[in-house]
Amino acid sequence: MSATEGTVRRLTVSDIGRMYADGERIPMLTAYDYPTARILDDAGIPMILVGDSLGQVVLGYETTVKVTMTEMLHHTRAVVRGTKRALVIGDMPFLTYSTPEEATENAGRFMQDAGAQAVKIEGGVRSARITEALVKSGVPVMGHIGWTPQSQHGLGGKVKVQGKSRDAARALLSDAIAVQQAGAFAIVLELVPEQLSAVITSRLTIPTIGIGAGPHCSGQVQVIPDMLGLGDFHPKHARAYADLQGTIADATKRWMADVTAGTFPGPAETVRMDDATLDEALGRSADDRASADAAAPAYIPLDRDL
Ligand code: KIV
Repeated sequence: MSATEGTVRRLTVSDIGRMYADGERIPMLTAYDYPTARILDDAGIPMILVGDSLGQVVLGYETTVKVTMTEMLHHTRAVVRGTKRALVIGDMPFLTYSTPEEATENAGRFMQDAGAQAVKIEGGVRSARITEALVKSGVPVMGHIGWTPQSQHGLGGKVKVQGKSRDAARALLSDAIAVQQAGAFAIVLELVPEQLSAVITSRLTIPTIGIGAGPHCSGQVQVIPDMLGLGDFHPKHARAYADLQGTIADATKRWMADVTAGTFPGPAETVRMDDATLDEALGRSADDRASADAAAPAYIPLDRDL
């Protein structure tokens, strides 16, 4: 049965935990709008992340740093409206979870106002007390370590694989453990060497969801335009399963050509009215021409007056 028909139950973090315990690999995709969310939900995706990648892939910002709570809530509401089954996770924007109080208030907006079932926050050890406070307040939290785009200015600006040196690998391992101990239900590993992701995955008891972190994670996440072949940015870790860029460009050119040639719209895309009614409306009948029709207001020019 399609996820948007009949009675479909919304997945919870316990369902994700069950998938993990059963050894099922867990897929997650980002979505930012109602129609895409519906398609993903109908296809059976268990988790949808309304990522702050919204800033780059939908809003045209250079980085995620400019994304606001208002923008995130707007798009999260649309995704929630488009889903019946998927667990929807709202990505908390830069500087919206600096203190436990601020984090709790903003996470509350994601859940109560926008209808998300969980939030994601970036950072390992440095964000652990925030995760702990959220979890204690009843907010399911997904962690995110490795390359964390919101701190890209602090990480040297250039997107790069994290954890490659001895100290960086150890730091990443302690980040992962800190996130788990703080109570997160899952953790995104972004741009991490595959051997290190494998070690982190084997040492944790919560699922790791990888992006650019190799095949040994408990699940995988992709930013949806990368998976659909939409946009000019092609990260090395992404595989395009469609060419929507080409499909949309081709459809646009064919539609423009039809408009220019006058073949769009055709009879199939056009409605007609009863010709006799139109004649009547325009005062075209012989009777109308002979006698001024009192029903027609004077300011409407009828054929007989032309
Ligand atoms: O914002 C986002 O899309 C993300 C994913 C890359 C995990 O954080």
